[in-house]
Amino acid sequence: MPRYTSSPLAEHSRALIGRLQTPEGAYPASPTFSAYTGYCWFRDGAFIADAMSAIGEAESAERFFDWCAAVLTSRADRIGWIVAETRAGRPPAGAQMLPARYTFAGGVGDDDWWDFQLDGYGTWLWALVEHVRRHGADTARWEPAIALTVDYLVASWDRSCYDWWEEHSEHVHVSTLACVAAGLEAVADAGLLDGAREDGARAAAAAIRALVQERGTLAGHLVKWLGSTAVDGSLAAALSPLGFVAPGSETGAATLDVLERHLTVDGGTHRYLGDTFFGGGQWPLLSCFLGLAQLAAGDRARAIELYEWAASTATDGLDLPEQVGSHLIAPRMRREWVDRWGTVATPLLWSHAMLLRLGAELDASEPDSDTHSDTAPVLEGLAR
Ligand code: BGC
Repeated sequence: MPRYTSSPLAEHSRALIGRLQTPEGAYPASPTFSAYTGYCWFRDGAFIADAMSAIGEAESAERFFDWCAAVLTSRADRIGWIVAETRAGRPPAGAQMLPARYTFAGGVGDDDWWDFQLDGYGTWLWALVEHVRRHGADTARWEPAIALTVDYLVASWDRSCYDWWEEHSEHVHVSTLACVAAGLEAVADAGLLDGAREDGARAAAAAIRALVQERGTLAGHLVKWLGSTAVDGSLAAALSPLGFVAPGSETGAATLDVLERHLTVDGGTHRYLGDTFFGGGQWPLLSCFLGLAQLAAGDRARAIELYEWAASTATDGLDLPEQVGSHLIAPRMRREWVDRWGTVATPLLWSHAMLLRLGAELDASEPDSDTHSDTAPVLEGLAR
C-alpha cells in the first residue's frame, strides 16, 4: 500500500484538485482567495499537472495541457509578432509580453497583475514531456503550442522579468532560467521539434547553462538572480523535479546546504530572506520542493522530515495553505496583507500538488517498494 499517496491528506488533495479543475482544463490557484479567484497560472498549473500525472491522474494532466495549448494557439499572431519584433532588435515592453495567469476561459481578465513572467512557459513544456514519458500520449495535438512556446522562449529567455513570486522585474532570475532551460531541453530531447527549432532550443538552453555558471552561481551554489549573493527557496526546483542541476553534483549539494541553513526552520522553508508577503512565513510547497531535491540527492530521512512538516500545516479540514505564520521574517508586515487581501490563501492547489508530488516520489523510492519510480521512461522513443 503506498504510504504517502494514499493517506487521508493525499486523498483529500487528489479529490480537491480533481473537483476544482474547470471544464476548460484550468487549475484554479485557489478557490477562495480574493486576489487569485478566477485565474489559473502557468507556473502553478504546470506543477499541479505534473503531480496529477505522477499519481496516475493522466486525464486531468492532459486536460490541463489542452488548456495551455488552447491559450497559446489562440495567441499565435501575438507570439509571432513578439518573436519578429525581438529578432528585429525591438523587444516589446513587458506589458506586451504573455501574462503569468489567465482566466479559465483563456482571457487575460480585468485585474492588473505583475504579469511578465517567463518561467511557466518553460515549466509547462517540461511537465508535458514528463507526462508523456510516464504515460505515453499522442503529442500531435500539443505540437503547434509547443512550437509557439519554444519560439517565444528562444527569443525572450535572456530578458529580465518578474520571478516566481511576481517580484523584482528588473532582474534575470535563476529559477526562471532553470524552468526555461528544463522546458527547452525536454522538448528537444523528446524529439518534439523540427530541426531548426530543435537547434534553437538547444542553443538557448546551452547559453542559459553557461550564464548560470558564470553569473548565477556564487561560492558553488545557485543564487536568486544573476549577480545576486542571496538565495531563494524556489532554487530547490532547479535540482528536482526540473533536473536542471544534478542534485548529487557539487552545485546541487552546495545549493541544498545553503537552502537548509538560510531559509529552512524546523522543516518549514521561507521564500527568501527579506520576504514581507503576509509577514514572510514558511511555505509548505517549498518544503516539498526541498524534500524532492533532498530525496534526489539521497537523503530520504530529510525528505520525510520536510514532507511531515508540510503535512502538519493542513487545517482540520485537511486544506493546505500557501504559507503559515509560525515563524515570520517580518511579523509587522502581516497585518498589511491581511487587510489588503484577507487571510492567507487556503486551500492553495499548488501546495496540495507538491505534497502529492513528494509523496509519490517517497512511495516510489520506499526501500521495499515494488512500485516503479514515476520518472521511469515508459516511451522508448523518448530516451533521455
Ligand atoms: C505567488 C505565485 C503564485 C500565485 C498563485 C502568488 O502569491 O507569489 O508564485 O503563482 O500566488 O498561487
